[in-house]
Amino acid sequence: MDNLYLPQPAKVLEIRKHTATEWSFLLDYKAEAAPGKFVMVSLPLAGEAPISISGFEARGIELTIRNVGQVTSRVFKLNPGDTLYLRGPYGNCFPLEQLKDKHLLIISGGSALAAVKPVIEHYARGHSAILRRLDVLAGFRSPRHILFRQEIGRWNKSHRSNKYISVEVTVDNDEDYAWLGSIGFVINFIKNVKDIGENTTALVVGPPLMMKNSVRELLACSVKEENIWLSFERHMKCGVGKCGHCRIRDKYVCIDGPVFSYTEARELID
Ligand SMILES: Cc1cc2nc3c(=O)[nH]c(=O)nc-3n(C[C@H](O)[C@H](O)[C@H](O)COP(=O)(O)OP(=O)(O)OC[C@H]3O[C@@H](n4cnc5c(N)ncnc54)[C@H](O)[C@@H]3O)c2cc1C
Ligand code: FES
Repeated sequence: MDNLYLPQPAKVLEIRKHTATEWSFLLDYKAEAAPGKFVMVSLPLAGEAPISISGFEARGIELTIRNVGQVTSRVFKLNPGDTLYLRGPYGNCFPLEQLKDKHLLIISGGSALAAVKPVIEHYARGHSAILRRLDVLAGFRSPRHILFRQEIGRWNKSHRSNKYISVEVTVDNDEDYAWLGSIGFVINFIKNVKDIGENTTALVVGPPLMMKNSVRELLACSVKEENIWLSFERHMKCGVGKCGHCRIRDKYVCIDGPVFSYTEARELID
């Protein structure tokens, strides 16, 4: 019988350093492209942590990791050629199949942009024709905290040649007075999104308070509850619905989520 908990080795192919504490690791690990899913990452004697897949590439998968604790600090000591261990992918996906001909609005706070990056890439790489329009609002604390500058540049280029995609990066503060874009909490920009309303589907990812306030603003802009989708980060142990660690009421975030529609996940953010 297969051991559910047995991780597989994955070689680090490339490391991209976005900020001092947020790096992307391209890993030699194959997974079918399914935006929204996560893997369990481990290193011997460090433990395991769930991490969203931020890129599905021909060479493998990309993980964008924030250095916050036991596992992640050990991962930050790795170099290209070193090995870490993965289980998965696990969890469900963003509902791309339900978005045909829809107006999609993606709202991200900070490094959570990593979780929705595969969705944006999916449309930026040529699937935009099946959406009516894609608007991305990506908020960061300051210009120094912006991730994926290279990708954002590419998405904006596809915006210029492609009327379906619009990407707006906002920063909460600009201590260096060097930011030429929008300044203010990302939530404040939701009401300015063109044609926002009952035909909009929104994907929201970020810290709990940011998600809660984004939902409130989306509802005020007439976006329907059932058209709001959220991705949750909860402490996990097994990642496969066995330990109950991620359970909230009748939901297991690891197998029922991490992506939930607001109608089924209201109690997760209230
Ligand atoms: C579905 C899902 C997807 C995720 N995707 C990503 C992702 O793409 N990228 C990413 O970086 N993270 C992601 N996370 C979050 C990540 O799994 C957590 O940050 C994880 O805890 C990191 O593991 P760690 O061992 O490095 O940190 P830990 O050692 O578990 O520390 C995590 C936090 O808890 C605090 N802490 C640790 N021990 C204690 C203690 N004894 N008392 C009080 N506080 C303590 C630490 O200071 C730190 O802030 C995701 C989580 C989920 C559930
Ligand atoms: S992490 Fe074990 S049940 Fe979800």
